Amino acid sequence: MSIRFEIDNQEVKAEPGEMLLDVARRNGIEIPSLCHKESLPAIGACRLCLVEVEQGGQRDLTTSCNYRVEAGMKVWTESAEVQLHRAMNMELLLARAPRAPKLKAFAAELGVSRTRFGPAAYNPLANCILCELCVRACAKLGNNVLTMVGRGEKKRVGMAFNEPSDKCKGCAACVAVCPTDCIPIKDTATERTIWGQKLEFALCKNCGQPVMTKRQQASAIKGKGLPEDYYDTCESCKQAATSERFAEVVIW
Ligand code: FES
Repeated sequence: MSIRFEIDNQEVKAEPGEMLLDVARRNGIEIPSLCHKESLPAIGACRLCLVEVEQGGQRDLTTSCNYRVEAGMKVWTESAEVQLHRAMNMELLLARAPRAPKLKAFAAELGVSRTRFGPAAYNPLANCILCELCVRACAKLGNNVLTMVGRGEKKRVGMAFNEPSDKCKGCAACVAVCPTDCIPIKDTATERTIWGQKLEFALCKNCGQPVMTKRQQASAIKGKGLPEDYYDTCESCKQAATSERFAEVVIW
């Protein structure tokens, strides 16, 4: 059965167990976030999605991406307290990633143009804000190669035991989700370098462009039980072939 509660004095409906940020967005109420993706488990790392929640006579700041909604609660997404702490959290993120253009642009949107905090003493992956989106994406894809290594100030993203892993297929999902573009990747015509490994590309049988890494190809063929030649053509050539077939059908 649906429950009802208020966000910024507006009554909203939700299903029990839903996360506050998702409910707010569904109702057109925008809350900034950096480490949230609907398809991945929320962990409340960036703390930009702060809101104030009043429940049982108590009003507290909390992250909305991993806060389960409850009937009768009241939420404020832009109170003075929220804005103050959200701006400070953004300053802390900027201190970790002072040269990340996307982060600087997002900070500017929130009215934050500088940070009072010094750079992180330890950040081997320059500009990494420890949001763990890459780790979560890697796990979601079933690869489980990336993990958080170290503790406290020495916490960082990496591969277990700091060793390149042949479980990494070079899919670059980690690169795609990174909000600060901090994961080094280099593609040439024939190979991809990522996480300290060089992975050869499988090339399209028609145009010679990379389709995916050979390790990705082997894993996909094995995992999905597809024929070996299933991934030997790039998307553009597949689409062109489909259009040609379509044109033939239209002409005849
Ligand atoms: S989006 Fe909620 S903590 Fe990052």
